[in-house]
Amino acid sequence: MIIFKTDEEVELIRISATLISSTLAEIAKILKPGLTTLALDKLAAEYIGDHDAVPSFLNYEGYPHHICTSVNDVVVHGMPNDKPLKDGDVVSVDIGVIKNEFHGDHAYTFILGEAAPEVIDLVRVTKECLYEGINHAIAGSYLTNISSAIQRHAESHGYGVVREYVGHGLGRSMHEHPQVPNYGRRNEGILMRENLVLAIEPMLNMGTKDIMVSKDGWTVRTRDGKPSVHFEHDVCTKPEYAQILSNYTLIEIAEKANRNLNTSYY
Ligand code: MF3
Ligand code: CO
Repeated sequence: MIIFKTDEEVELIRISATLISSTLAEIAKILKPGLTTLALDKLAAEYIGDHDAVPSFLNYEGYPHHICTSVNDVVVHGMPNDKPLKDGDVVSVDIGVIKNEFHGDHAYTFILGEAAPEVIDLVRVTKECLYEGINHAIAGSYLTNISSAIQRHAESHGYGVVREYVGHGLGRSMHEHPQVPNYGRRNEGILMRENLVLAIEPMLNMGTKDIMVSKDGWTVRTRDGKPSVHFEHDVCTKPEYAQILSNYTLIEIAEKANRNLNTSYY
């Protein structure tokens, strides 16, 4: 069943989504080589708790951490660990919260220091794919127009689009109907009405689209060991446009400030 939201419910989801954005901005401020992803997990858990919300990933189907940190060839569901991050690493930080009974679920990919140019391109194009998809999250449009826009842009750059994990509806549950694949043909699936809230989350691989799940049961890696990037926004369908409920501006400002700080010794 697809649950369309009231305007009031959409505003509650915006509050949860924005709390994730500000948590990601806190991470953006301090991120640098030498930090561990466990330190990011701790920071996020404390920040979310301090803002009267609960991290939703902890114990979700037995998941043992507060957030997901997916480094380099890890596609999604990377588990925070005590290995220090290195210069040139690319790390997707995915966070879910519940506040006022409504979920937010969104993710951003950070580059640490100087990465290879082809990694920088992959990050840029994955973010572009997210917005290409969002442009079609409009009431009166078909759901798969989101999917096909993402796939078209990704494949025009020769990247592999992950099939096994998809975006989803969002509300009182983290995963509601409908699923939002990052591949597909236009004008199929459901016709969207106003106030459908979706988590749109392209996962692009530099090489093959094929993935494998590690023995820990969570960590999803690319089959060829090449890097993968993941961005996720929470979005609400409106008649003329897509309303983005999460906020990358907060994160991008912090990211730029951090980058200037860490290069100011030249
Ligand atoms: N953000 C992920 C999704 O949309 C959820 C992470 S899985 C969890 O499916 F177990 F960590 F919660
Ligand atoms: Co999600």
